[in-house]
Amino acid sequence: MILPARIAAVDLAPEIARLKRELNAVILAHYYQEGEIQDVADVIGDSLQLAREAARSQADVIVFCGVHFMAETAKILSPQKLVLLPDLAAGCSLSESAPADAFKRFVDAHPGHVVVTYVNSSAAVKALSDYCCTSSNAVAVVNSIPRETPIIFAPDRFLGDYVARKTGRELVLWQGSCEVHELFSGGEISRLKQEHPGSITLVHPECPAAVRALGDVVGSTKALLDAVRTGPEDGTFIVVTEPGIIHQMQKVRPRAIFIPAPAEIRGSEQGSCTSCNTCPHMRRNTLLKLYQCMDARAPEIRLPADIIARARLPIERMLALG
Ligand code: 13P
Ligand code: SF4
Repeated sequence: MILPARIAAVDLAPEIARLKRELNAVILAHYYQEGEIQDVADVIGDSLQLAREAARSQADVIVFCGVHFMAETAKILSPQKLVLLPDLAAGCSLSESAPADAFKRFVDAHPGHVVVTYVNSSAAVKALSDYCCTSSNAVAVVNSIPRETPIIFAPDRFLGDYVARKTGRELVLWQGSCEVHELFSGGEISRLKQEHPGSITLVHPECPAAVRALGDVVGSTKALLDAVRTGPEDGTFIVVTEPGIIHQMQKVRPRAIFIPAPAEIRGSEQGSCTSCNTCPHMRRNTLLKLYQCMDARAPEIRLPADIIARARLPIERMLALG
């Protein structure tokens, strides 16, 4: 929708604050959102923090600035609330890599396996799972399952490989991947490390093993932010995840230098792409769309009641782990 020039000209932040009061809404934003969205949010966090917030919020309306599966998780945990997503087309390549019907056939082909599903999956896939996990707690979730129990881990094969190495367990992996994290270039990161001796390399576990091996810290977006918070005030950090998080990193360490790691163009012999490291789905949300969705009370997340009931259990099991 194109706003009339009259409305487009106003400063959106006070309008969003007014709508928030009118709706009794809470705005939750993932670290990968644009800085101007993070700045009007009530809570900024990783997937786990935002799921916890959605579960405990007293607001009538949850405005979720993130991608579709995250807003679905909020709806599953608070089905009585209106859950708004500024752009319903904000998807996720990991979630899309596991269509529910194909995933059901995969699960059926592995009888006796416990199914651990990364939260980056559709509600219908969660409904086929025993446990959910996020990148913050995937190792803890797998460790909570008796060692002799075989496990399917889906949909991210790189996070699954990370968890398998950390827990020393064999996992049956669904072969999905994140289109952003799988493209980080090991060669470029090695070059940056050489160029900046003493720098600290922060890597998200959705990256391939060769890239993770270059990390001084490997962890969820919150873990990477925490590493900056406890790191040197004037340090240099190479950030191997979606660069939206640098907005918060810069706030906690204003004197530090943050270098967003570049991604590689697939099939390209040389050269790298600095903007391929942004998540095109996360970036579909804009401040204007946030304002418009609050104004229109739409688009909202709707899910069938039976999916909500079945998908809730694996999420609650994850949250109960603390
Ligand atoms: P976090 O849970 O670490 O925030 O990761 C979410 C995500 O989509 C990473 O690509
Ligand atoms: Fe999905 Fe990757 Fe975007 Fe995260 S960065 S939302 S995993 S596509």
